[in-house]
Amino acid sequence: MEAKEILANYVLQYLKENDIIGLGTGRTIRKLIEVLSKEENIKRGSIFLASSIDSELELSKNGFKVVSLFSGLRPSIYIDSFDVLTNAGVMIKGGGGALFREKLLTYFSKYKIFIGEESKLKKNVKALEVPIEVVNVSVNYVMRELENIGYEVKYREGSGKIGPIISDNGNIILDVIVKTEELCEFDKNVKRIPGVIETGVFCKELYNKIILADNNGRIEE
Ligand code: 5RP
Repeated sequence: MEAKEILANYVLQYLKENDIIGLGTGRTIRKLIEVLSKEENIKRGSIFLASSIDSELELSKNGFKVVSLFSGLRPSIYIDSFDVLTNAGVMIKGGGGALFREKLLTYFSKYKIFIGEESKLKKNVKALEVPIEVVNVSVNYVMRELENIGYEVKYREGSGKIGPIISDNGNIILDVIVKTEELCEFDKNVKRIPGVIETGVFCKELYNKIILADNNGRIEE
């Protein structure tokens, strides 16, 4: 069994029926939705909020009750994955461009668990690519400002598409190279630039638990 499937099955123990459950975005969460589809009690009794149109669609297709983020409902539990985890417990998210809604749901959920393959733990990297979401018309101002203060930055292009990827919120995603030890500082400071809405840096105070697994079934909490 692959690590994503192992994690999806393992994290079921944290999900209850008749609950408000928040889910993230990506292949790990798609696998969790597939596994959850067989859990009739949770399916019948729980309400779901999701961090992307992709996950909302996947949930709806599988017969789950999905509520819009406009509801303002706060999930009792939020489950998501990540792209990179550092030694210091900082996650980088936004590989799927859903970082803003992911941070929103993480912040407003009561208990937050992140699951990922052990290979996503990068122990000795000096710098990482951090996605940031910027309001579309601000993109050239933000890029120039970041370059002026010494960052390498590019906008994210869609595969086979001309132009930038547009997020579910109608914004543009930029990828910025940031020194690993400065990730949390970057997260705070960059939002002072008008146009920058959110970053894919998830520092320790944002979450409760990280669960890692490898393809041999070894799980670490
Ligand atoms: C999407 C995310 C995902 O959690 C991250 O990209 C991991 O994805 P996957 O489960 O496909 O490895 O942050 O914005």
